[in-house]
This record gives sequence, C-alpha cells and structure tokens, in this order.
Amino acid sequence: MSHQVTVQPSGHQYAAEAEETLLAAAIRQSVGLPYGCQDGACGSCKCKLLQGEIELGVHQLKALSEAERAQGFILACRAKALTDVVIESHEVVGVGEFPVKKMPARVSSIEHLAPDVVRVMLQLPAADPLRYRAGQYIQFLLRDGARRSYSMASAPSESPQVELHLRHMPGGKFTDHVFTAMKEKEIQRIEGPFGSFFLRDDPENKPLIFLASGTGFAPIKAILEQMRTNADPREVTLYWGGRKQQDLYLHDWAVQQCAAMPHLRFIPVLS
Ligand SMILES: Cc1cc2nc3c(=O)[nH]c(=O)nc-3n(C[C@H](O)[C@H](O)[C@H](O)COP(=O)(O)OP(=O)(O)OC[C@H]3O[C@@H](n4cnc5c(N)ncnc54)[C@H](O)[C@@H]3O)c2cc1C
Ligand code: FES
Repeated sequence: MSHQVTVQPSGHQYAAEAEETLLAAAIRQSVGLPYGCQDGACGSCKCKLLQGEIELGVHQLKALSEAERAQGFILACRAKALTDVVIESHEVVGVGEFPVKKMPARVSSIEHLAPDVVRVMLQLPAADPLRYRAGQYIQFLLRDGARRSYSMASAPSESPQVELHLRHMPGGKFTDHVFTAMKEKEIQRIEGPFGSFFLRDDPENKPLIFLASGTGFAPIKAILEQMRTNADPREVTLYWGGRKQQDLYLHDWAVQQCAAMPHLRFIPVLS
C-alpha cells in the first residue's frame, strides 16, 4: 500500500510505498529532496512533518536530536509513511536530473596515492553512460545486500571511466576487500548517481569555501575539475585537512590547480 507525500512549499506530490523511506521514494521519482548519506548520519535530509504519521528508523543524534524530533523534524532517509503525509522541505534543483541506474563496473586500475588511500578507476558501460554532477556519489552493491558509498573524484566527461578515492578502514567489509583482494578487471555492481552536494549556479558569483578532510577531498576534486573546464569565475578557497602530510594525498595536484585556476586558493591544514 502506498501513501501520498506532499512537499511544501513547492506542493510537489509523490507516492511512497509502505516499505520505502520518504527519501527513497523521492529519489525513485526524481523529486529533489536534499540528502547526503541516506543512512541517518549526516542530517542533510532533515525536514519538518506538518501532517500525518511516520515511523522513524534508527539514526544518529547528531543528525536529528531529541529536541529537534520534539519540534516535529524528521529525517526523510529514515522515515516511512504510515498515512498520507505533508512535509516541509526545500528542494534542490538538479537532484533528480539524471536517472539513478544500476550497472556493472569493471575495475580498470588500482593505484596507491598513500599507504591507506587508493585511486580506483572504474570502467562503466559506454553504451549507457553514467550521467552525474561533480560532487555526487555512487554506491557499490555488495553480495550480501550491503551498500558502500564513494564520491566521484573526476568531473563528468565523455569518458566511460570514473575515478574514486578509497581510504582503508581496517576491519571494514568493503575496504578490506579493496586493499587485500581487489584485482584489475574485477567486476562490481554499482548504482548512482546519488547526493545533492554539487555546485549551484549563482548569478552573483559569490566566493566559495570548500572544507575537506582525508578522502572528503574526492568530490571537491571533481568540482574543481568541472569549474576549470567551465572557466567558472568564482573565487574558491580550499581548506584540506589531515593528521599527517600523507593524508593530503594529492597535495601537489591541488598546488598545480592553483597555477591553472587564478581564482583558487589552497590552504593545507595539518593538525
Ligand atoms: C555519501 C558518502 C560518500 C562517501 N565517499 C567516500 C569516498 O569518496 N572515499 C572513502 O574512502 N569513503 C567514502 N565514504 C565512506 C564509505 O562509504 C565507507 O563507509 C567506508 O569506506 C567504510 O566501508 P567499509 O565497508 O570498509 O567499512 P565498514 O564495514 O562499514 O566498517 C567501518 C569501520 O567500522 C568498523 N566496524 C565495523 N563493524 C564494527 C563493529 N561491529 N564494532 C566496531 N567496529 C566496527 C570497521 O572495522 C571499520 O573500521 C562515503 C560515505 C558516504 C555516506
Ligand atoms: S541523515 Fe544523511 S541523508 Fe538522511
């Protein structure tokens, strides 16, 4: 049984099946709700329940505090509709622009950028290319049904290759595989694109500040590449932090971009 979700103030309406979250249904139907992790951890999908009843799944308190919950806020990625609902949420133009697709991906190369970071190049089907916005991410679909998210580190292009930066999390289900067993030519299944973190057009060209730590640099790299290709005139300050120098695993690349992009300032931060 499905319930109707109405988004205010836009008035957009869509159907959510009983077993899917408000966000999953929105993504499926290209409704532009904002989101990041899809996992109750980041708070990007926080919105207000104006009418109706929902069941709220497990989430982190840093994403939605008890005080916020008491004020009627919910996480769209953790909420399932029990009745027709009305929510208040801003919408992001462009989120549903490119269809979310499942596809095979072939590992074409694995290169160490630091002892605990690899650059993985994936070869995607040329006949049915993945279209995405710089800053978005894909998910690997693991055999047991688990999913793991990784940001594209390369801007969209005509090439069927995408670049990812993966940090080893010792004991981690997927990155243990990547760092100990993954081989070139291995076939994985992926789904994407996901996420509402990408550059918005701005007629005023206001300056931008990017903050990244570790492999959080990956989506920023894709956005910088896109800005360079588009000769985007906005001033950018990039703070990239890590605990040690090797955490800034493409430091020299960032320095070189400053030479090519006069509006870019790169500030490495070591704690
Ligand atoms: C939107 C998004 C984009 C992302 N982009 C990137 C990216 O570009 N690059 C990147 O490197 N990462 C990225 N991540 C993180 C990535 O998705 C994974 O979470 C990460 O790689 C770990 O996956 P894993 O399967 O190796 O570890 P998991 O199996 O998920 O485990 C994570 C850690 O928890 C520990 N752990 C697991 N279970 C337990 C337990 N029961 N008790 C105690 N400890 C436990 C593991 O040992 C490991 O250290 C992104 C995440 C999101 C949400
Ligand atoms: S909490 Fe991250 S998308 Fe919902």
